[in-house]
Amino acid sequence: MLTSRIIGFGSFLPPKIVTNDDLAKIVDTSDEWIFTRTGIRTRHIASDGESTSTLAIEAAKNALKSAKMEASDIDLIVLATATPDKTFPATASLIQKAIGGSKTCAAFDVGAACSGFVYALSCADGMLKGGLAKTALVVGSETLSRVCDWTDRTTCVLFGDGAGAVVLKAFEENEHSIKNKGIYENLIRSDGNMFDLLVSTGGPSTSELCGKITMNGREVYKHAVNNISNIILELLAKNNLKTTDIDWYVPHQANLRIIESIAEKIDIPLDRFILTIGETANISSASIPIALDTGIKSGRIKSGDLIMMATMGGGFTWSAGLVRI
Ligand code: UT7
Repeated sequence: MLTSRIIGFGSFLPPKIVTNDDLAKIVDTSDEWIFTRTGIRTRHIASDGESTSTLAIEAAKNALKSAKMEASDIDLIVLATATPDKTFPATASLIQKAIGGSKTCAAFDVGAACSGFVYALSCADGMLKGGLAKTALVVGSETLSRVCDWTDRTTCVLFGDGAGAVVLKAFEENEHSIKNKGIYENLIRSDGNMFDLLVSTGGPSTSELCGKITMNGREVYKHAVNNISNIILELLAKNNLKTTDIDWYVPHQANLRIIESIAEKIDIPLDRFILTIGETANISSASIPIALDTGIKSGRIKSGDLIMMATMGGGFTWSAGLVRI
């Protein structure tokens, strides 16, 4: 039977760093408020000439290098983003063009806000297991700074820009076992009743503009803690696993307090979680692949480790994925 393994990791953050003190010069806020409420110290912000595609391309190249693969080997590119370069075509096509992807490659974008990366991974994993592709590049890339309302202190201090990517390869295995390396199972969920709680003020079909981020922070916070904790426990229970069977938890990085509450709810120490929120802030669909690459590069995530990814975002959407590296 066909399985899919992650064989390469990459990320890219735009060089420009904006501190909390920098933000205190443009909105009524402080380093103390932002850090104690969110754990965020800095965020990377795209400069003129940088966009979701340029960040994605750098992350993709880094992932290909780490997988020791050529762009021509890739036959599927899936980009998770809420901030595409253009309304259409898909920004994934720009990645294909830039890396010199093969003419038989498929490329498309997935939009599931902060859950986007696990959604994109599920699509690619399903296509590899179904024999529709042999190798895939799955990317999460965002330029949230372009859709922030820089006069709204309740949202603009929370977000950043960046990209992360993985390379997937199909392998033949005798059985689908949690002991084997590869993507074991993903759960992806949505509840459209919560659409208005974390939403852009515009869109091509409604306002003819992309709009700015608005959020009911307290409601999103509550749902993030519950939905992420519950989907982790559901995925573990479905596979007869204990929370302690997981080597590393790789959560969406929206707020350190959210991650601390999840750790407390599932009764796992915080040092089993890969954290990037302090340096990157919330980069929506890019936050999990950046955290994965950070975990690999720092030597904490090792070959053979069992990883639990889990996230929640606008829609509401939420998702979790179980992968042996
Ligand atoms: O990626 C998708 C998922 N997104 C999330 O998960 C984000 C979820 N929400 C959160 O992380 C938190 O709700 C926030 C960080 C957005 C807000 O933290 P909070 O502890 O829930 O604060 P709050 O909204 O209850 O606001 C407390 C106070 C308010 O003042 P009053 O009404 O008590 O006088 C706010 O106006 O803090 C004020 N405030 C600020 N003060 C200084 C809000 N933003 C700021 C700010 N600087 N940037």
